[in-house]
Amino acid sequence: MSLPIYVKIVEVGARDGLQNEPTLVPIEIKIALVEKLVEAGLSVVEVGSFVSPKWVPQMTGSSEVYTSIPKHEGVSYPMLVPNAKGMAEALAAGVKDIAIFAAASETFTQKNINCSISESLERFQVVMEQAKAHEVRVRGYVSCVLGCPYEGDIAVSKVVEVASALYHMGCYEISLGDTIGVGTPLKAQRMIDAVTQQIPIEHLAAHFHDTYGQGLANLLAVMQLGISVIDSSIAGLGGCPYAKGASGNVATEDVLYMLNGMGIETGVDLTQLLLASRYIADYLGRSPASKVARALMP
Ligand code: HMG
Ligand code: MG
Repeated sequence: MSLPIYVKIVEVGARDGLQNEPTLVPIEIKIALVEKLVEAGLSVVEVGSFVSPKWVPQMTGSSEVYTSIPKHEGVSYPMLVPNAKGMAEALAAGVKDIAIFAAASETFTQKNINCSISESLERFQVVMEQAKAHEVRVRGYVSCVLGCPYEGDIAVSKVVEVASALYHMGCYEISLGDTIGVGTPLKAQRMIDAVTQQIPIEHLAAHFHDTYGQGLANLLAVMQLGISVIDSSIAGLGGCPYAKGASGNVATEDVLYMLNGMGIETGVDLTQLLLASRYIADYLGRSPASKVARALMP
């Protein structure tokens, strides 16, 4: 069994988490949350998205959040961009890192971004050209890699096809999303095995939701294959507004506790992280969806 010495945690709570809250979280709360996450030592903190405010009102004001947060050396603050209009807003805000987001399911793609998979890839190509011209780094997401809320099982070959398209377009990292958390460890390993036939493992990330309590088990399984980038969400916030039943991403506190216990470096401090967790959980008026946070901050 080989495991990474260091894992990069990509914190997605301020975006993937807050995009799914029933109420709109004020800009100043989002700014303070991002600051607390950076203080905890996270080096990649997703901040928001440039999507339609009619589709995802929770992400309204993302430009102001991005421009207001102090930018720390060595920290990146990616923003989600679905199309050329979103990219124009990202460039106007001076964004240096973006994420484009595709899916391995046709139906999910239609529900999420109102186009087919092939149309989405054409749109992302336009975004990518803009990004290259302005030296913006681009991460790529593939949703529904272990199942779709509309289509059920998804062929691994489709995951490989969409992930490869994003990688060959120029994404530095491909984040493989189990959007509705239906995956189990061996299935997750088989999917990673297939994708690594086309993309080197160091360019892949695991973005697992914890809907069925499989998040940590799935992460351990793919770390054994060499995955060393993990997306997670503070307080286990989140889900996707276009994936009914998707609960939060695996909680950052739980991932960190597991990695600490295994002696794997992350650069993140658990005590500081718990302060960020408490901050957003208090604001939302509920306890964090993290067993570690609940055990350590009763
Ligand atoms: P559309 O309606 O097809 O776009 O939406 P359109 O080009 O036909 O334009 C219609 C209107 O939207 C126009 O405005 C445009 O200006 C406006 P109007 O003339 O009616 O006033 N518009 C925009 N406004 C702001 N920003 C934009 C933008 N583009 C067009 N970028 C669109 C297409 C993609 C915009 C829409 O479907 C959308 O915003 N979808 C939301 C997608 C989303 O944010 N989903 C959640 C994130 S993905 C996720 O969570 C999964 C992930 O975590 C991984 C995993 O877990 O699997 C990443
Ligand atoms: Mg997600």
